[in-house]
Amino acid sequence: MKPRKMWLNINGADRMLICDPEKDSLALVLRRIGLTSVKVGCDTGVCGSCSVILNGKLIRSCTKKVRTIEEYSKITTLEGIGTPDNLHPLQVAWMNHGAVQCGFCSPGFIVSSYALLLQNDNPTRQEVRDWFQKHRNVCRCTGYKQLVDAVMAAAKVVRGEATIEDITYKVPEDNECYGKPLVRPAALAKVTGLADYGEDMALKMPRETLHVAVVQPRVAHHAKILNIDTAEAAKMPGVVKIITHEEIKANGGTNQMAEANLHERSTVTLPSRKILCDDKIFRYGDVVALAVANTLDQARAAAAKVKVDFEPLPEYLNFLDAVMPDAIRVHDDTPNLFCVQPVLKGDALEDAEKVPEILDNSACSVEGSFYSTREPHLSIEGCTVQAYFDEDDSLTFQCKSQGLYTSISRIGVSLGVPREKLRIVDNFNGASFGWSTNAGDLCLAGAAAVAVNGPVALSLTYEEHQHFSGKRCPSFSNGRVACDEEGKITGAEFDVGLDHGAYSWGGDHVMEKPVRFSFFPYKVPHVAGLCRVANTNHTFGTAYRSYGSPQAYTMSEALMDMLAEKMNIDPFEFRWKNIARPGDTNINSHVFKDYPMEEMMEKLRPHYDNAVARAKAEDTPEKRRGVGIAWGGFNVTEGGTDQATIVLELDADNMILKYDTWQDLGQGGDVGSLMVTLEALKPMGVTPDRVRLCQNDTKICPDSGMSAASRSHYMNGHATKLAAEKLMAAMRKEDGTYRTYEEMKQEGIETRYEETYTCMTDTSITRLDPNTGIGDPTPAFTYVLNMAEVEVDTATGKTTVLRFVCVYDVGKIGNIDAVNGQAYGGISHSIGFALSEDYSDVKKHTNIARSGVPYIKDIPDEIILIPCENPREDGPFGSSGASEAFQSSGHVAVINAIYNACGVRIFDLPAKPEKIKAGLETLAAGKKIKPPKKYFLGSDLYDELENIKANPVKFRGHDMFESLGESDGSKFY
Ligand code: FES
Ligand code: FES
Repeated sequence: MKPRKMWLNINGADRMLICDPEKDSLALVLRRIGLTSVKVGCDTGVCGSCSVILNGKLIRSCTKKVRTIEEYSKITTLEGIGTPDNLHPLQVAWMNHGAVQCGFCSPGFIVSSYALLLQNDNPTRQEVRDWFQKHRNVCRCTGYKQLVDAVMAAAKVVRGEATIEDITYKVPEDNECYGKPLVRPAALAKVTGLADYGEDMALKMPRETLHVAVVQPRVAHHAKILNIDTAEAAKMPGVVKIITHEEIKANGGTNQMAEANLHERSTVTLPSRKILCDDKIFRYGDVVALAVANTLDQARAAAAKVKVDFEPLPEYLNFLDAVMPDAIRVHDDTPNLFCVQPVLKGDALEDAEKVPEILDNSACSVEGSFYSTREPHLSIEGCTVQAYFDEDDSLTFQCKSQGLYTSISRIGVSLGVPREKLRIVDNFNGASFGWSTNAGDLCLAGAAAVAVNGPVALSLTYEEHQHFSGKRCPSFSNGRVACDEEGKITGAEFDVGLDHGAYSWGGDHVMEKPVRFSFFPYKVPHVAGLCRVANTNHTFGTAYRSYGSPQAYTMSEALMDMLAEKMNIDPFEFRWKNIARPGDTNINSHVFKDYPMEEMMEKLRPHYDNAVARAKAEDTPEKRRGVGIAWGGFNVTEGGTDQATIVLELDADNMILKYDTWQDLGQGGDVGSLMVTLEALKPMGVTPDRVRLCQNDTKICPDSGMSAASRSHYMNGHATKLAAEKLMAAMRKEDGTYRTYEEMKQEGIETRYEETYTCMTDTSITRLDPNTGIGDPTPAFTYVLNMAEVEVDTATGKTTVLRFVCVYDVGKIGNIDAVNGQAYGGISHSIGFALSEDYSDVKKHTNIARSGVPYIKDIPDEIILIPCENPREDGPFGSSGASEAFQSSGHVAVINAIYNACGVRIFDLPAKPEKIKAGLETLAAGKKIKPPKKYFLGSDLYDELENIKANPVKFRGHDMFESLGESDGSKFY
């Protein structure tokens, strides 16, 4: 390489650069000189996070080679648009319109919007959308609507029709902040490009930091490893070390990530996941070695030289193949089908076979078999981790983790470092939606740091990340539901198979969701259901917003529409007849915690009526219009094992310090923590500027649990209440005023209060009985009722979602922008899940665009959110949880709307144009569309239920929670 000197005019100043003209992209060069607002997500020109303005033209700088740029070209990055003390209206609008979630896309969007306003300072919403579409700006968090809102607000200021104050949220004078759109504390850093995400941290590490690349052979889904030859790689320039499983073991590690399988019926006996493969490849994205070198390029070049010899083994890429009797085991210690959970209700408790009798004898029944996809999370930022030994010799990870302490448990002793010497710190991170619950990338970086005994930075390309990370479990389900002459449901049966991929951790947990959320929230008197989970050789199943429930709704909400149609009852009215009402029980034989169902349907009714009328009026042979609805909902917390600890402290400046691990993946862990703290300390009149958040570093923060299971607001809120009561009691004087820090010290009063809120002592939270599925595993629920209006182009089969309405109840709202942000975001993922998203073809689904991420024009601008705020008696400040419900069933509203529009029912997601077109052609030929055959899931449903009955297992019930001890580390083996 022969470096070249060149001058560029960057943000108004001439800057001299030395670059590699052949290899360097403009993004790389700008980042190297410190302009790290330029984010690199996809690195392939499909996400827009690297947008900059080059000579007046908006470009994506990751694909722009510097050799193609003329000297003294003018470049504008976000740093040249506004700074913290001189914000551009776009930055202010972004902060104040809920346009910042993870914020990774924000610099690219703001630069893009700035370029638009330079050309047209009075755009219509449609013009803004056209612009973002044309320039391929992707936001995976927000659902786009708020971004357009922000541009419209900023444009008014640019035109002089509004002031910055007009578009800035002000804290209410009465300090009543709860429920209001208080701006996120991290928003300022995010909209100015000063928030350091993973790769920004990597650039800013100490000089001796080494770089780590993965050896991810990507040749097989299942293979025996015969030999790993590192000789050539070790001789490559700049290489410090090539690491295999042998090195990890030589350093005292087990190379085995810790995991827990708690279900009584789980047959898993050994942890299933290794850090670096030793004897087998279990899936396409497995990593067999690491290359550590002085630069990332050198590390990648060396990784490419590691030779791995394999012997192919049979590959099972879906549940159906893996559970066939002749399939070999993916893991030696357990059959591929490694856990089952039944649910029996009503007469089924006595004899499951009574349910088919009830269904057969009912006035009307429908059945169907459904498939839901291996949905990829498609966060714009992938895997990037820095690891180093800190000043206390703790192995420290700067990373993206949704559960810092859970990650410590997952790492366990795999690296040969004692658990108490592991420290995890969250960087600013570019979203996750669930994939960062696994700690696999931390283990890779940790193995390298241990091997070289120094700081390292691990960076995966987006494609490597896409194959390495877990995905939502695909489901195969068979279901049947019946009703009486009046349309009241008489019973249901279902059998769901979840493909958990190569590794088992979490499989026994996700398996419980379909037996809790199928037919939620209806009254179903008799139920015989089963969920089975199996290992395959595809990527492993992992957490994803609404974990395990979209699979249930894929089946049950489609069946509800099918039964309504067969009964010739409007789908809305059919649901109205069947929603649970006070006293009715769910399919786990427990009463619902709340009954907002009628109120929610009443709120949707006028929108539904209008939509149906509109669809009729606007339907044409070329553009068919339809409306679909779907109920959804989710649990709050991880159930009986859940607990959260937080600390409140009065410091010498009389600031309130809040310590917690409310990991912020973009959902708003910062503002959520702030809201509950303000509310808990309201009697003291604490204002936002008096609270300092100290978050997400296990060295200084207690374990507040994962950011998952819609639990954070509920659990952290309760723990904060407890600590606030203690702190206020300590500070309160006899006259009702509060002591200062000085006064506390003078009187020798404690200023720091650590409190834990636990579900472990709440005996009303019961696990699902492994023999019957009876149980009540959550202290609270959230509810959504979705409606989609679609248009199907009959020439192409393409579906466009025109409008979306979501009525929701998450109890009292904490921060309206954060809750609505989850709603918009969840809806956008649901639309993607329905129409385009997939990670089944590992050769094709390599980046966000090829995996079907929705661009702005795939998501309607008209999304109407209608909250029903029913305060929860047991929730902190009347709140429940948020987030997950918003991605539970919106996809089925879209699928139902497609059927309503054109008569094509999609049984296997996603509803790609070619499937719809094929269906339309079948209908046009006067034929009936053949539904898929019933799936064979390993055995007959009733044989399996009989087998379960004949072989009951001892239900450990609530005792199991208590036996787990205080730390969730003991859940792992
Ligand atoms: Fe350049 Fe995605 S990083 S377009
Ligand atoms: Fe847009 Fe996260 S806020 S990708």
